[in-house]
Amino acid sequence: MRVTVDTAGNLRGVYAPDSGDSLPILLIGSHLDSVPNAGAYDGILGVLMGLALVEGLGGRRMPYAIEVVGFSDEEGTRFGIPFIGSRALTGTLSDAKLLDSKDALGVSVREALMQYCASHPDASDCSLSPNTRAFLEYHIEQGPILESRNLPLGIVSSLVGQSRCRLVFQGSAGHAGTSPMVLRRDALAAAAAWMTRCESIAIEIEGLVATVGQISVEPGGVNVIPGVARCSLDVRHADDSVREQAVEAILREARAMGAQRGVLIEAEEYHSQPAVQLDSAMTLLAEKAVHSSDYQHIRMTSGAGHDAMVIAPHLPTAMIFLRSPGGISHHPDERVLPEDVEAAIQAGLCFLDEFAVFATRKESNQRA
Ligand code: GLV
Ligand code: MN
Ligand code: MN
Repeated sequence: MRVTVDTAGNLRGVYAPDSGDSLPILLIGSHLDSVPNAGAYDGILGVLMGLALVEGLGGRRMPYAIEVVGFSDEEGTRFGIPFIGSRALTGTLSDAKLLDSKDALGVSVREALMQYCASHPDASDCSLSPNTRAFLEYHIEQGPILESRNLPLGIVSSLVGQSRCRLVFQGSAGHAGTSPMVLRRDALAAAAAWMTRCESIAIEIEGLVATVGQISVEPGGVNVIPGVARCSLDVRHADDSVREQAVEAILREARAMGAQRGVLIEAEEYHSQPAVQLDSAMTLLAEKAVHSSDYQHIRMTSGAGHDAMVIAPHLPTAMIFLRSPGGISHHPDERVLPEDVEAAIQAGLCFLDEFAVFATRKESNQRA
């Protein structure tokens, strides 16, 4: 494979034994980054699956090239913004204020990429080759459904949309011993009261999930009333209008809580990723491949975000889930069963054969 690291830090390898630059390309991959105290399979398994499929071809020539990609940053752990690697491939990285977003140490995405690229002077351009025809992503399910149905593999038909917000609760710091409770403007107490409302709103709306995963408090002394609390908020639903209305309701609730307690609220939704329906022809191909390998499957909606969401509006995309024992993910106990990986490889090799027909048919349709 010809291997490069591109200007967004994505690791990319092209398998094209025929060396024909004009061949159609099948993109396969997932992400290399992780979350705090993570497991070993979220993302990376999808990159290794791409390599395993190329290896499984044993040098066999296909009528198309395969590009395996390891996306540099999907989780958004460092900058709060997800899908940096895949957005770079689709040319949408420079949208909005994304490149100016900063990490906890004040380093912007732009600066981090420049530093990284300086250590990879042979970095290639990020955008996908115009010959790229389709994308296949493997990923662990990260939930309990496949295990409960006793199935190794699932086919993803859609992915829920997600919003990310930042909130600042600005109260007044003060002495923990001398300030009477009724005279306080405690930023953390206001944030805590809002969080329980957030949970109730999510429970009331079928299919909605809302998570406050980060909170930081200033000045952070054991005997000091919190003056500032900064929180993250992640909201997801399969229906974009339900999600957007829920975000409005949750942020309204924060302002109401602040007004009751004399705490100023700054709230912004800085990321809104619409729900995505995956390509029907590619999804059928993936289903056919699973069946040809004698495995059963179900169609599923993904509650997790994946690079497939970002690529799908640009390329026909399919996604295959592998069962997650115990439904555990974003946790060090995250696992995958070796026999399920074997099933995924077998189905993947069938997929590559099916894709040969698909790609050739598409090419001749395009020429006609
Ligand atoms: C990625 O794992 C996400 O769904 O947040
Ligand atoms: Mn993840
Ligand atoms: Mn992932």
